[in-house]
Amino acid sequence: MHSHLDSVLFHETTILSRLDAMGREITRDYQGKNLTVVLILHGSLFFVADLLRRVNLPLRVTSLDVTSYHGGTQSCGTVTFNQLALPNVQGQHVLIVDDILDTGRTLAAIRGRIENECAPASVRLCVLLKKRLARDIAIDAHYIGFDIGDEFVVGYGLDYDGHYRNLPLIGTLKPEYSRHAL
Ligand code: IMP
Ligand code: MG
Repeated sequence: MHSHLDSVLFHETTILSRLDAMGREITRDYQGKNLTVVLILHGSLFFVADLLRRVNLPLRVTSLDVTSYHGGTQSCGTVTFNQLALPNVQGQHVLIVDDILDTGRTLAAIRGRIENECAPASVRLCVLLKKRLARDIAIDAHYIGFDIGDEFVVGYGLDYDGHYRNLPLIGTLKPEYSRHAL
């Protein structure tokens, strides 16, 4: 599987030491608060598991299954909620965790519904990666692992057509394995 990669952006040790710092920050920020983490399936699975084991708080974890539609590797902005019920987070401080902030449409849709329909005490966003690009919607994440350029990456939860999530590092694919790459 590693032979499908063109370049490595972040090795596992780099990712994990960044998560040490993010875990300390979240532990400090949510001290004494009722924290519920809403993880977005499936891209955040590996990230959230490693991150939350570095957060020293009695938090709750729940998940939300959404699909962001893509033409090849490009988000086209349609977000479908694949479950009828939203998580019960009334009065809770909510931290929404996703793999990547690209156009921001996915997280804007999720945050909007949780804020409007779930009566949380607060909502913040946490992403492993944020792409440096001009977004047409105003959104930012409070906790960001790494900023990257406008390139298509896989690994550590991020997929290409469902594959490569289990790579322990983050990299770009060789052109022959990403036919629709940006
Ligand atoms: P957004 O709505 O454009 O922010 O897209 C967010 C979703 O698109 C993420 O949760 C990912 O599933 C997917 N995505 C965006 N960029 C990448 C990438 O570089 N690699 C893999 N998936 C990506
Ligand atoms: Mg994806």
